[in-house]
Amino acid sequence: MKKKRVVVLISGRGSNLDALLHSAAMGCANFAVVGVVSNKAEAGGLALAREANVPTVTLSHKDFSSRETFDAALRTTVDQFAPDLVVLAGFMRVLTSVFVSAYAGRLMNIHPSLLPAFSGLHTHARALEAGCKFAGCTVHFVTTELDHGPIIAQAAVPVLWDDTESTLAERVLTEEHRLLPQAVSDFCAGKLVVEGLRVRVSG
Ligand code: GRF
Repeated sequence: MKKKRVVVLISGRGSNLDALLHSAAMGCANFAVVGVVSNKAEAGGLALAREANVPTVTLSHKDFSSRETFDAALRTTVDQFAPDLVVLAGFMRVLTSVFVSAYAGRLMNIHPSLLPAFSGLHTHARALEAGCKFAGCTVHFVTTELDHGPIIAQAAVPVLWDDTESTLAERVLTEEHRLLPQAVSDFCAGKLVVEGLRVRVSG
């Protein structure tokens, strides 16, 4: 079967991208990472992509006068890879509704909290401050409302008494690296059925 084409958008370290690259390298993978786009030239994930022989593009938002013009250029860049799926893996930019609509149903994000709790930034610090007993991560389809699209998969981890922001982040990240490749694989197998805000994994 022909592998689905996945484009990954990053802004930083790229550990989730790395998890996808490893998953894609397995013989049984149903997807290939065909391009990586970063809005930051210093993003560590760019080197990981190059090591895996995946083409990379850096498109700095600072070179554009508005969110709209940046997103238009981003769309042109992404479309050149002819993606079946676009994955936001630590891409730290709010996208315009024009961009989001262009990839409706094939735009996925990984967020480090159990949505709908703690959308936005500093999720682990906020979970600790709120006294949560569990924290976690969410893979969801992206809609125009920030961090609110249909939830594809979630994983929870316990919050320990002596956790700091970084120890909790590390525990959650281990789950992210498992959850995201699985969600991408399920999408590429055509298993994800969206019913309103609910996503059924068929088969
Ligand atoms: C992850 O925690 C992800 O959930 C969030 O940003 C972080 C990116 O980490 N959106 P990495 O660049 O994939 O290592």
